[in-house]
Amino acid sequence: MYMQQTKIFLGADHAGFRLKEEIKKYLDNIGYKYEDLGAYTDKTPCDYPETALNLAKKVAKSNGKGILMCGTGTGEAIVANKVKGIKAANCFNEYTAKMSREHNNSNVLCIGARVIDAGNAKKIAKAWLETEFSKEPRHRRRVKQIENIEKTLCK
Ligand code: RB5
Repeated sequence: MYMQQTKIFLGADHAGFRLKEEIKKYLDNIGYKYEDLGAYTDKTPCDYPETALNLAKKVAKSNGKGILMCGTGTGEAIVANKVKGIKAANCFNEYTAKMSREHNNSNVLCIGARVIDAGNAKKIAKAWLETEFSKEPRHRRRVKQIENIEKTLCK
């Protein structure tokens, strides 16, 4: 199991705000610490690039993990993946969440609050948090290749 002492960064725009609040309660229940980086309301629009960039920088700097929630999960994933060291995965069920950890070593989980209900989002978050990166050489080789691409292209 992922070390529950490790703090999970949480971020959302206005569309993901309610889901973020649900996920916070769920993380409290299952014993994970988190830091809420906003949005803090759904009453005013919040531009997802700002939240996603802030979260991604914190995850990269701390070598940690984060969960981003917007309408579809797509915009925040696009932004987060611009940050060096970030492997953000937009997951839509437990399987994709588990595989994004086991095969891709994702460190940011993105969830679309307008396409995934809170019950499934909690299952997705749990699967993602509890899955370790594979020890299989082929997965490690492929992730290393991603990191080499990043080193070459993002100078
Ligand atoms: C906001 O309307 C919406 O565009 C945003 O939450 C997200 O889905 C973008 O990818």
